[in-house]
Amino acid sequence: MSMASSMLNGAVAFVPRLGLVPLAAKNQKQRPATLTPARCSLSSSRPASQPRFIQHKQEAFWFYRFLSIVYDHVINPGHWTEDMRDEALEPAELYDARMKVVDVGGGTGFTTLGIVKHVDPKNVTILDQSPHQLEKARQKEALKECTIIEGDAEDLPFPTDSVDRYVSAGSIEYWPDPQRGIKEAYRVLKLGGIACVIGPVYPTFWLSRFFADLWMLFPKEEEYIEWFKKAGFKDVKIKRIGPKWYRGVRRHGLIMGCSVTGVKRVSGDSPLQLGPKAEDVKKPINPFSFLLRLLVGTIAASYFVLVPIYMWIKDQIVPKASVSGASQFGWL
Ligand SMILES: C[S@@+](CC[C@H](N)C(=O)[O-])C[C@H]1O[C@@H](n2cnc3c(N)ncnc32)[C@H](O)[C@@H]1O
Repeated sequence: MSMASSMLNGAVAFVPRLGLVPLAAKNQKQRPATLTPARCSLSSSRPASQPRFIQHKQEAFWFYRFLSIVYDHVINPGHWTEDMRDEALEPAELYDARMKVVDVGGGTGFTTLGIVKHVDPKNVTILDQSPHQLEKARQKEALKECTIIEGDAEDLPFPTDSVDRYVSAGSIEYWPDPQRGIKEAYRVLKLGGIACVIGPVYPTFWLSRFFADLWMLFPKEEEYIEWFKKAGFKDVKIKRIGPKWYRGVRRHGLIMGCSVTGVKRVSGDSPLQLGPKAEDVKKPINPFSFLLRLLVGTIAASYFVLVPIYMWIKDQIVPKASVSGASQFGWL
């Protein structure tokens, strides 16, 4: 909690044996102000064979079969605004229009719209496992020249050392084996390329934690860093993001709570060796338990549609001045 308070919406870096420390703001040469002892309790991970209710590829497929109809109108305004997106993409250093960029789990193309502000759309590929989400991306004029393909984040159809930037926003939470997806990010990047994974952060408030655990993966910040490092990335950094009406509060978790980046310093495949995929998507499943999981997962997801509404109303009612350090420290 104290760690959160000192670094809200700021960049933090992982320092071995010290844990997460804030990065000095751009153009400031000051040393990080707070050093926090390591608390590497990687508690929210589960074996890939025991995913949460929508953390399974078939469940995610059906979940997005329906959510894609309203996704841009329901999810983005509450959780993933244009301001947040631009802030989250900043560490990806998209400074050259000629860069080859892949947007993995690109869905309806909301994040891709942020990418094509900097990069020629002809050089951008959107990959997603949901044809229904991709159909929405196809309808966007600014994305007409992007390549749009169906595929799996854990098994990318791109050659090793082939892209300059790997971006994935709000998708890691559905991957049964996130480490495998990040290892793939490493493989497809060229030497010096940057991976930028934007994703949720784990809630601390008990009710939010309960629903988060039912729905999908809400990793802890330490977990992202661990996955990046194990995959072989260097210069791993984490930047905190959030809708402005949350005022830095992170106790309910955030669906888009951080942007994690790492640089590929050695070409070729990731040094990490993983066995075969634990999840077998072709294995027949009991339709009743499938429906029940989908239903419970969807109910849990609905809770996180309500949280930003509650936070927004609170932001309208409680004057900013009366919000002292308390909310900043995640107590409200
Ligand atoms: C919350 S949406 C994010 C969409 C988009 N990146 C954005 O910023 O709005 C998550 C997306 O990840 C996709 N997804 C989930 N699991 C996936 C997987 N294993 N491989 C590829 N895409 C996946 C879903 O189909 C969905 O479109």
